[in-house]
Amino acid sequence: MTSVMFPACEGCYTVTPSRCKEGCKCMRFDKIPTSGKAIAAGKAIEFAVNQVVRQYDNIAAKLHLGGRAAAYDDSRYEFIGGAQDNIRKKHYDKSLRLLWKAEEKAPWLGFKDCTAAEKHLSNMAMQSMSQDERDACRQITLPEFKKKLRKHYSPKERSAIVNILATIGHGEAYAWLVSSSLLSDVKSTGARTALTMQVLEEAKHFVVLRELLYAFDVDVPRQSVWEYILLENVLKAKGLEKFFGMNILVEGIALSFFGLMSTLPGLEILQSFHLDESRHTALPGNYLQEFPLTSWQKISPRAQWKRLRLILPALALIPNLEEHMAELGFDTFEFGGSTVRKISILAQRNGFFMLLPPSLLFALLDTVFNAYCQLFRQQHQFQRFTRAESTRGSPELGVEKKIFLTHSA
Ligand SMILES: [Fe+2]
Ligand SMILES: [Fe+2]
Repeated sequence: MTSVMFPACEGCYTVTPSRCKEGCKCMRFDKIPTSGKAIAAGKAIEFAVNQVVRQYDNIAAKLHLGGRAAAYDDSRYEFIGGAQDNIRKKHYDKSLRLLWKAEEKAPWLGFKDCTAAEKHLSNMAMQSMSQDERDACRQITLPEFKKKLRKHYSPKERSAIVNILATIGHGEAYAWLVSSSLLSDVKSTGARTALTMQVLEEAKHFVVLRELLYAFDVDVPRQSVWEYILLENVLKAKGLEKFFGMNILVEGIALSFFGLMSTLPGLEILQSFHLDESRHTALPGNYLQEFPLTSWQKISPRAQWKRLRLILPALALIPNLEEHMAELGFDTFEFGGSTVRKISILAQRNGFFMLLPPSLLFALLDTVFNAYCQLFRQQHQFQRFTRAESTRGSPELGVEKKIFLTHSA
């Protein structure tokens, strides 16, 4: 079979000129004449300068004297490390699917982040409800929310909640800073999309949690020195050690705080925070499957000591929170033991070893925690604090089960 080639329409390049001859609405450009010589000369100059600049940068990079700043391969239209669509699908796509809006989850906080379509959908859902259901779902105002908090909690309890959550509130500020700085440390397009979503989510966590804490009408405390040292060290850590400090240590702590507090009246929105943080703790695992740590990076005594050193201030945070935890009926050492166990599982699984194997670390911590309790608590009986579970809500336990079950101590 032979095919006949027709001259294409200059506007739309269709091969059926009969359609274009009369009344053709195709886009037509008035071409401007150019100098072939000038264009050829410009191309030659660009080619030569490109060779010099790229070669210079390549050599400088090999000699560790600088070179190209961006880890980007423009010839492949890709970041160094390739596409890594798997990470993109597990984090960026999933984050967008699960993206929650403060206006919908906590309308009393005054955020206006829902789209018109989302508001329309929520109005439609309200219309299909009975009057009782509508009353239950009615969007309450900030004064009504504050009244609800005062009804549920004494001033001392409100202060305890704010003191505990302020710890992670300041942590969110650092999570925002660290995740954005990590963007230049990870390879591949997929990992960058994942971290970009994390930056967005940490920004949302910071501002939403801040408004939530202000609603308690209690002074928000500064960071304790232990938290200050912990977070400053994470921000100053280099390369993948920052990944450990952020996505394992800080995220593990955040996951535990939200898991502890999300069932309290008025704090239901923390379920959404908890779900985001669970995804953030999974990022190192997915990333290191594609770009594994070398054996030396895992076992180097210097690297292991640096990781252990990052964790130490977090241990001092545990007794520091005791007064506020106790006010709400939480045992700070159960919370600490549960948190350290989860962090240790994540660290071990990802090859971020920390000088002490988990069993030894748990035994040591249980000894220290029990020694403290023996000194300061009446009739204290020995407890395996590192076997405690501090997360309370069923959905949150379900989320954590998927992360920790097969690896629990
Ligand atoms: Fe966060
Ligand atoms: Fe996070």
